[in-house]
Amino acid sequence: MKRLHLFEFEDLPWFPAFLRDYGTDFLQFMANQFDFYKGIVPLLKIGLEKSGTSTIIDLASGGGGGWLKLVGRLRERVPGLKIVLTDYYPNLKAFERIKKVGGDPFTYISEPVNALDVPEELAGLRTQFLSFHHFKPEQAQQILQNAVDRGMPIAIFEVQERNWKYLLQHSFSPISVLLTTPFIRPFKWGRLLFTYLLPILPLFIYWDGLVSVLRTYTLEEMEAMTRALKGGERFSWEINRIKSGPTQVLYAFGYPREE
Ligand SMILES: C[S@@+](CC[C@H](N)C(=O)[O-])C[C@H]1O[C@@H](n2cnc3c(N)ncnc32)[C@H](O)[C@@H]1O
Repeated sequence: MKRLHLFEFEDLPWFPAFLRDYGTDFLQFMANQFDFYKGIVPLLKIGLEKSGTSTIIDLASGGGGGWLKLVGRLRERVPGLKIVLTDYYPNLKAFERIKKVGGDPFTYISEPVNALDVPEELAGLRTQFLSFHHFKPEQAQQILQNAVDRGMPIAIFEVQERNWKYLLQHSFSPISVLLTTPFIRPFKWGRLLFTYLLPILPLFIYWDGLVSVLRTYTLEEMEAMTRALKGGERFSWEINRIKSGPTQVLYAFGYPREE
């Protein structure tokens, strides 16, 4: 299936922040409820070792993704674990909640952090969940290049793939939104209003999810990006699928080779 970079509401600067936040809260709820990232813990552990730190710099964190579930498993394996949540449009209410519920390991950055150009002082294993497809090919390449230039390991994860199966599967997302909304935290009356009375939220999540499927890079496309990196020979790359919880996760994992 050809890659189509249609617009996602979430990416539009004028899109109301509270609706964007309701969208990323939904993703956070689903990822933790269904333990999407259970299978990637060993990979994160290796990434941390390769970074020479116990810090994860999570880029494009949205509502915090699957971290609340992941932190328990990772904390027992990584002493001094620190997870820094960042985003270009930070969902601060969600970051505060994750910090409160998830405890010590979490910190967050209140100002926008652009995944295309991560500040040098943010050292550690870079992670990106469900966000690599937001970037056009030259920007996606820039994200990988930035990690190589700074010598920082990077792990990118997507739970959808660009094919008919995922397009079909995704057509049920409005039902998931209708069924899960009352259980999503932080509780907001607005979330109920824009789901059940004015159903903007199920429609926006449906559209953005559909476009996400059409934008997702294949394993071959990600491999081609890593081959085109300047200085890419300084990095080892692992690009594959892994069974994880009820789903399959697509990942690209790169780290500096040992000298
Ligand atoms: C689909 S959400 C994924 C959120 C979260 N990682 C998760 O797994 O639920 C994509 C996120 O990418 C963020 N984003 C878009 N462009 C960005 C950029 N240039 N730099 C950093 N984050 C960006 C959006 O604000 C949004 O929170």
